[in-house]
Amino acid sequence: NAIELGKHETYMEKEIFEQPEAIRNALRGRVVIEEGMVKFGGLNMTEEEIRRISRIVITACGTSWHAALIGKYLIERFGEIPVEVDYASEFRYRNPILKEGDLVIVISQSGETADTLEALREAKRKGVRVLGLTNVVGSTIARESDGGIYLHAGPEIGVASTKAFTNQVVSLILFAIYLGRLKNMSLYEGQRLLKELSLVPEKIQQILEQQDTIKKIAEKYHEAKNFLYLGRGVNYPVALEGALKLKEISYIHAEGYPAAEMKHGPIALIDEFMPVVFIAPRDALYEKVVSNIHEVKARHGKVIAILSDKDDHVLRYVDDALYIPQTMEEFSPLLTVVPLQMMAYHIARIKGLDVDKPRNLAKSVTVE
Ligand code: G6P
Repeated sequence: NAIELGKHETYMEKEIFEQPEAIRNALRGRVVIEEGMVKFGGLNMTEEEIRRISRIVITACGTSWHAALIGKYLIERFGEIPVEVDYASEFRYRNPILKEGDLVIVISQSGETADTLEALREAKRKGVRVLGLTNVVGSTIARESDGGIYLHAGPEIGVASTKAFTNQVVSLILFAIYLGRLKNMSLYEGQRLLKELSLVPEKIQQILEQQDTIKKIAEKYHEAKNFLYLGRGVNYPVALEGALKLKEISYIHAEGYPAAEMKHGPIALIDEFMPVVFIAPRDALYEKVVSNIHEVKARHGKVIAILSDKDDHVLRYVDDALYIPQTMEEFSPLLTVVPLQMMAYHIARIKGLDVDKPRNLAKSVTVE
């Protein structure tokens, strides 16, 4: 154990810090920058078959479902194919309407989650092709899928998923760019996206170096009873994931919401005891999220903001800030999720909890 953990005290911490390397492993051999193109070994579909996909349904559980929600934004934006996302446990029981031209994508770190596996089988019974995104080579979902993309995150031991999530998002980005390039995306655009993607590991490294600041924030808020996480666009699923990480390992109640939905309910909860985590990188919806920050401050909530580098505009309105380097909007979840993982981690550690084996949770849920 001590050898495996190296300088880290827990698997979760080790896995958070492995994210730059895990992403490099997911990109290696797949990204051809000169061609602005992505190569996959195991899709088992011809380019002609890929071009005929008219709709994609992504299904998964837990953290993998959050990656699926990000995948919807990415595939619709780059790949120009409509995408639906469903919990595997709902999909398998609701008579999903699947037609020729549909592709089902299942996402599972372990490749063994019972509901996800049954959703895969249901799709196959309906005659639809299934693509599996899994981390564990040779897992049941990997074997039963028609084609697949391995996450290459390396073994994930901590129950709360971290590096598998970022590699799920990377795999979905790659797949979305691949779809786009087989359709209307130009060579130049493909090159631009892939160049920027290859800079992400280094940018995550810069976030990991802010560990001390994150510890201080954890120290300040670890006694809160509730947290609210808000984000928009691709960072709405990150808000869900940030809230889930906190619930899973620190046992603090937390909710994630699309920021603009705040006024339809969660705003009623805001008082001086409610920390609100805003995921607010500079993107198309930034100004709108800033106006939500003002609404929270007007009600004496505490604001912790994840901001883009050198963002001074909103600084005087927030209680605490964490910075992520600039990147393209579509890739920002790979950066914004990292401080949220770290904050949940440190809050749980301050509370003296077993982050690698949180109570009542299992790494892989093989029963319904
Ligand atoms: C469990 C784990 C989560 C995981 C979920 C789905 O709940 O604790 O971390 O996200 O299962 O697992 P999968 O292996 O299918 O991604």
